[in-house]
Amino acid sequence: METLHTGIDLLTLTNIRKSFKKSGGEEHLVLDGVSLTIKEGEIVALLGRSGSGKSTLLRIISGLAQPGSGTVLYGGKAVTGPVKGLAMVFQTFALFPWFTVLENVELGLDAMGIHHAEQRRRALAAIDLIGLDGFESAYPKELSGGMRQRVGFARALVVEPTLLLMDEAFSALDVLTAETLRTDLIELWLERRIPTKGILLVSHNIEEAVLLADRIVILGTNPGTILAEITIPLAHPRDREAPTFRQLVDKVYELMTKRPRNAAGKSEAVPLSYRLPTAPINQLAGLMEALAGEIYNGRADLPELADQMGFGVEELFPLLEALEILAFARTEGGDVELTPAGQSYVNADILQRKVIFAEHLIRHVALATHIRHVIDERPGNRAKEDRFLRELEDFFSEDEAERVLQVAIEWGRYAEHFAYEEGAGILSLENPGKIDNG
Ligand SMILES: Nc1ncnc2c1ncn2[C@@H]1O[C@H](COP(=O)(O)OP(=O)(O)O)[C@@H](O)[C@H]1O
Ligand SMILES: [Mg+2]
Repeated sequence: METLHTGIDLLTLTNIRKSFKKSGGEEHLVLDGVSLTIKEGEIVALLGRSGSGKSTLLRIISGLAQPGSGTVLYGGKAVTGPVKGLAMVFQTFALFPWFTVLENVELGLDAMGIHHAEQRRRALAAIDLIGLDGFESAYPKELSGGMRQRVGFARALVVEPTLLLMDEAFSALDVLTAETLRTDLIELWLERRIPTKGILLVSHNIEEAVLLADRIVILGTNPGTILAEITIPLAHPRDREAPTFRQLVDKVYELMTKRPRNAAGKSEAVPLSYRLPTAPINQLAGLMEALAGEIYNGRADLPELADQMGFGVEELFPLLEALEILAFARTEGGDVELTPAGQSYVNADILQRKVIFAEHLIRHVALATHIRHVIDERPGNRAKEDRFLRELEDFFSEDEAERVLQVAIEWGRYAEHFAYEEGAGILSLENPGKIDNG
């Protein structure tokens, strides 16, 4: 196949920083020094967990939001507002329910100042291209999710974008529908039936990124910085079962589970043991039991484990991170391995498990230890949760602070490290021995 690559830069991001004001007035840093170039002929996937700033970055690229600092060059020119030649496909389809398919697609052209007959001609061509022929006068509610997203694609492609941005465009679709649409898009691209010169797709799905992209850029969280890049040198169509494909998936898992090595010198760096992932105890226990079981014998290949347990990246990674923080497992080279402590947790009975968990909580989770210290020092051994929320808001957004505290509370209650009075929002040592079945 003739190469699509010309070596010309389509898009250049340099040192993009972006923060949002929290309600208290402080800044929440979301993107920190992101630099990225997309060349003609490239499909680049931006991979990161939810909250890593992917959508924010796409909004900045498309001129819908301004970076705090840094520059966006598109076709060599600085982006300062909505850009011609750029189109975006959204996860939620973003269709107007009171317009037909045809009208929704024509809307893509509205701002371009072309006369109506031409709009219609181009809209019909885009509808045809994406396989929506015959659905021109249907309303979105009459369509399946997959067909709705085809309308989303038609509306983006109708402007004949030079750069196509996709924000989790396949993640609201069921597995088969998503795969069909991915295949159709890649075909349009490879057969040059669309004039698009570059695609930037945002995803939290590792396999999707390896399936579609020439290059994967991994965005870390809190704040979003580029952690790693990897080239995918496979020809299309790609076979998910091929050993080279599996090796690349493994490699990406490995890059994504790498802990940020000691972010020394960064004043806003969050202590690792304060950044608790959402990981319910029963799921942690379930995962450790599966790992210890006879299929894996203590060590598992991450993609295989995800598949076996029916976990997507969004579900598996927080659990892995929690096990790592608690020193119950280690991730390494795209594999996860139980530590001896993780193994003894699995072998223990319910009460012993609590004791082991409590030991690890005190030793490895500074936030839980801190909460316990404060309660110990307080008269009556009681402290309001608001107090901890305010402290956490020095590191996190309000929502994130609340989420992190909830995790600490769930883990602390399970370990019988402290008690929590739900309605009053009070942490105490009252009945710390009471077993909570919640
Ligand atoms: N308009 C906004 N105002 C305040 N905070 C925002 C806004 N948009 C995004 N954020 C915050 O920025 C972070 C990154 O969000 P987002 O870019 O949507 O991440 P992703 O798309 O990777 O899930 C989140 O913590 C989110 O709450
Ligand atoms: Mg997003």
